[in-house]
Amino acid sequence: MKLFWKVFCSFILFVQAVTGNWWNLAAPRVPSQAGNTSLETFTTLQKESCHRLEYLVERQKQLCLLSDRVLQVLQTGASQAVEECQHQFRHSRWNCSTVANSTDIFGGVLKFKSRESAFVHALSSAALAHAVARACSRGELNECSCDARVRKRTPRHWQWGGCSEDIRYGEIFSRDFVDAKEDKNTDEGLMNLHNNEAGRRAVRSRMQRVCKCHGMSGSCSVRVCWRRLPQLRLVGDALTTRYEGASHVKVVDRKRGKNIRKLRPIHADMKKPNKTDLVYLEESPDYCEPNDELGILGTRGRTCNRTSAGLDGCRLLCCGRGYQTRVRDHEEKCRCRFVWCCRVHCEICRYKRDHHVCN
Ligand SMILES: *[C@@H]1O[C@H](CO)[C@@H](O)[C@H](O)[C@H]1NC(C)=O
Ligand SMILES: *[C@@H]1O[C@H](CO)[C@@H](O)[C@H](O)[C@H]1NC(C)=O
Ligand SMILES: *[C@@H]1O[C@H](CO)[C@@H](O)[C@H](O)[C@H]1NC(C)=O
Ligand SMILES: *[C@@H]1O[C@H](CO)[C@@H](O)[C@H](O)[C@H]1NC(C)=O
Ligand SMILES: *[C@@H]1O[C@H](CO)[C@@H](O)[C@H](O)[C@H]1NC(C)=O
Repeated sequence: MKLFWKVFCSFILFVQAVTGNWWNLAAPRVPSQAGNTSLETFTTLQKESCHRLEYLVERQKQLCLLSDRVLQVLQTGASQAVEECQHQFRHSRWNCSTVANSTDIFGGVLKFKSRESAFVHALSSAALAHAVARACSRGELNECSCDARVRKRTPRHWQWGGCSEDIRYGEIFSRDFVDAKEDKNTDEGLMNLHNNEAGRRAVRSRMQRVCKCHGMSGSCSVRVCWRRLPQLRLVGDALTTRYEGASHVKVVDRKRGKNIRKLRPIHADMKKPNKTDLVYLEESPDYCEPNDELGILGTRGRTCNRTSAGLDGCRLLCCGRGYQTRVRDHEEKCRCRFVWCCRVHCEICRYKRDHHVCN
């Protein structure tokens, strides 16, 4: 009988399995057959849109329907995450490239429980918390606004004022939405949940306090301060550092009364990851050669830097296949001078520049 339920339950889980991830919202949308801008119709369209996103699980669809602007904020979060990922990985073998036509904009690369997958999970969960908190402070969501809680703490030499951005709400929403997809009973789910949380912490710990002086010219008798979200670039930089030092882990079962599953370093002598570290379970696939099935483009044709010893250097980026040097014409503004008043006049200089391309 027990076995029956096990099989039955796994069947249910199988049926519920949803492929693809919410960050597919970054893909360009097929424009809906709109043209009718009345609010009522817009809301209906929105409802349909939320239901039609086949890669969202039920809870995510519910949250998508919470209010008019949620879908838009989700799209913003997804697009900013992809954009930031492409910036951070512009010199790497896998450059965070996306494919146009798929339910998985990263084309299957993230099916591996790899470092790259860890990074994308952390970054997208961070970007969503960021986008939601920003939307709150702009009054775009009904459920939140500025953070009123900070005002309860009364500082001595200045006072709270203005609009403090509510990262707490952003985090709660991101946790509710992004983590809804994960099953902590699977190894992959455990890994993703850890990285999602690490991403959100990277935003929270970088909240800034900005202040403005008021009072008689320059006296600053009253200082008013509020909390501001960090630029997403800062979060991306921090998560890239975490990515480089990510921990290779395995799942261990510790059956002490309850069944507790934990992530532990794969080798006993390695440092235990803390909540801000990124973790991964599998080595990455080979990003050197193209693989259509996984959506890997390979590094042929990538521009490399001959003098760099880093990832963008020709030796590493071209995976030992060598490179070709082409001479390219290059134009640049030069011999600029100031013309009274008030213009800068430049000439255009043309010169030849070496350009290295991977074989
Ligand atoms: C636009 O919406 C209004 C009211 O919701 C409806 O009466 C009208 O038929 C719609 N027009 C089109 C072109 O869908
Ligand atoms: C896009 O995907 C759909 C469904 O997977 C497929 O039918 C279609 O041929 C694809 N289009 C292109 C251009 O790859
Ligand atoms: C977590 O570990 C990293 C090094 O992997 C360290 O830089 C960071 O300060 C630690 N964070 C906490 C909260 O202990
Ligand atoms: C990634 O690299 C490929 C070549 O392998 C290039 O075609 C593509 O434009 C790059 N994508 C980004 C986002 O840099
Ligand atoms: C190439 O790498 C060197 C050394 O890291 C760096 O100084 C230089 O700016 C790079 N050139 C380009 C075009 O990125």
